[in-house]
Amino acid sequence: MTMIAPEDLNILITGGARGIGAATARLLAAQGASVMITDVLDEEGAALARDLGPPARYRRLDVTSEADWNDAVTAAEETLGGLNALFNNAGLLAFGTVENTDPAAFRHMLEVNVMGCFLGMRACAAAMRRAGGGAIVNCSSIAGMNGYAGFMPYVTSKWALRGMNKCAALDLAADNIRVLSLHPGPIRTVMGDELPPDIAASQPIARFGEPEEVARMVRFMLCEASYSTGSEFVIDGGALTGQVPRLE
Ligand SMILES: NC(=O)c1ccc[n+]([C@@H]2O[C@H](COP(=O)([O-])OP(=O)(O)OC[C@H]3O[C@@H](n4cnc5c(N)ncnc54)[C@H](O)[C@@H]3O)[C@@H](O)[C@H]2O)c1
Repeated sequence: MTMIAPEDLNILITGGARGIGAATARLLAAQGASVMITDVLDEEGAALARDLGPPARYRRLDVTSEADWNDAVTAAEETLGGLNALFNNAGLLAFGTVENTDPAAFRHMLEVNVMGCFLGMRACAAAMRRAGGGAIVNCSSIAGMNGYAGFMPYVTSKWALRGMNKCAALDLAADNIRVLSLHPGPIRTVMGDELPPDIAASQPIARFGEPEEVARMVRFMLCEASYSTGSEFVIDGGALTGQVPRLE
């Protein structure tokens, strides 16, 4: 498995209209990658693609729809000239305990966060094989490495993704496709705004991360992490390391 220069990336990004997905699209397009931004937020996605110019284009893709996935992969192969990278980034946040979680809301979140990622890898694998291989980044969370009170549906989905990531890495290794999971801590996005504002206060790096910081990690995973597959990349301001007491 080899390194891929950013300008050689032909990448499909889900949930790319805003937040971490948009920051990654911006960074990679600026470095010459061909980027298909996908989302269900058509106005924002199309505006971002217009802003980035020809290396980027927008296409509607609801990650829960097999038909959308098949159409998007066909379009990516036609318009990007092949597909050698996938950033499974789209996700929803849902709060709840084991007792008070609404089953329908939980099912919907699993459909987006878990099935969406599965359908994406399933739809893209053959195209990536035709491209000679490539790399997939699946966006989990530090919630895929720990338990958090009141976050049961989200934590469950992100642990599931972490397991799926390892299986996919094994299944796709012979096709020269690396599969990696990304584990951000609190990041300043629309989703991050739903978190308690003081959630980062006791971290070693006591602030929310910026989407651009995550984008740089994703670029490293896609382009340079040539000896990593099935592995987990944490970008969390030290949150998983422990808490730092703040003495007055
Ligand atoms: N922000 C954080 O603190 C944080 C921390 C850890 C992990 N993450 C993960 O990072 C990823 C990106 O999150 P973000 O912070 O940029 O959030 P965000 O809410 O800004 O962006 C998520 C994007 O996913 C899209 N999306 C939702 N459902 C979709 C569907 N069915 N099909 C296609 N697109 C859909 C949304 O429209 C949105 O554009 C998510 O997987 C999230 O779980 C975020």
